[in-house]
Amino acid sequence: MSPSLDKTPRRIREMFDIISPRYDFLNHLLSFNTDVLWRRRAAELCAAAGFKPRRMLDICAGTGDLGLQLQRRWGCDVVVTDFAGRMLDIGATKARRKRIRSAQFLRADALKLPFREAAFDACAVAFGLRNVADPETAVREMARVVRPGGRVVVLEFTLPLRPWVRNGYLFYFNRILPLLGEMLAPSRRGAYRYLPLSVASWTPPQRLLEIMRSSGLTRVSFQPLSLGVAGIHVGTRPESSELMARSPGPNPPFLASSPKLPAPSSQPNRQNDAAP
Ligand SMILES: C[S@@+](CC[C@H](N)C(=O)[O-])C[C@H]1O[C@@H](n2cnc3c(N)ncnc32)[C@H](O)[C@@H]1O
Repeated sequence: MSPSLDKTPRRIREMFDIISPRYDFLNHLLSFNTDVLWRRRAAELCAAAGFKPRRMLDICAGTGDLGLQLQRRWGCDVVVTDFAGRMLDIGATKARRKRIRSAQFLRADALKLPFREAAFDACAVAFGLRNVADPETAVREMARVVRPGGRVVVLEFTLPLRPWVRNGYLFYFNRILPLLGEMLAPSRRGAYRYLPLSVASWTPPQRLLEIMRSSGLTRVSFQPLSLGVAGIHVGTRPESSELMARSPGPNPPFLASSPKLPAPSSQPNRQNDAAP
């Protein structure tokens, strides 16, 4: 592995802590502010339109832009987690400045989320999964902490399929972006070499959808954004009724009747809706 693509947790955490003071500024500049629209769209897909969620989770949240977007869109409590404390500090300051009190910022590892099963109405991640040492475990954790019927949403960079867009995108990512990064943040040049490498070697959408399925999520779908330079992957934790429908064949003869399952509900299970 190239040293620039080293994803050991310590290296990733230190890299984001170091770039944290300029992260938001460079993010918006280098993406021509499109990242704001992408996160808005991802937040929109975290629940069905008329639904009233109580609590949502943003993991690998960095400076919390997706979490704050979730709060704005759904008016619910949000928990914003990352393992880079300085990124979170900047997010918490932003939330205070915007007088958002219903956002809680917590240091947490995406590979071992410190929350009970089914604690959230949705769990989302923006541009974070690509940086995690073990993305499959992170997706399983996301699926675990979401209630039955709740959504898991992953916003990530993708490689465009059309050759002319792909070539232009790779030229910008490999040549222009690291140069701009070095000019604007000379002491953080490693991060802007890491970015194109991490995108080029990232899991394609179809494979990520498979990972979501094998983590127990259903109704998985992918929505490309901006000619395919990014995309949103959505999955739903199945309700008990869906699990019943998917269960194999009739009961074995030694079982007199079907085992009792809780009645299906489209609302979150408030009793299980424990504090994170
Ligand atoms: C590119 S930033 C994305 C930040 C934010 N979600 C956004 O939309 O701008 C990736 C973040 O993932 C975090 N991260 C990577 N691996 C992690 C892990 N195992 N646990 C928690 N955070 C992690 C990094 O600390 C970093 O803040």
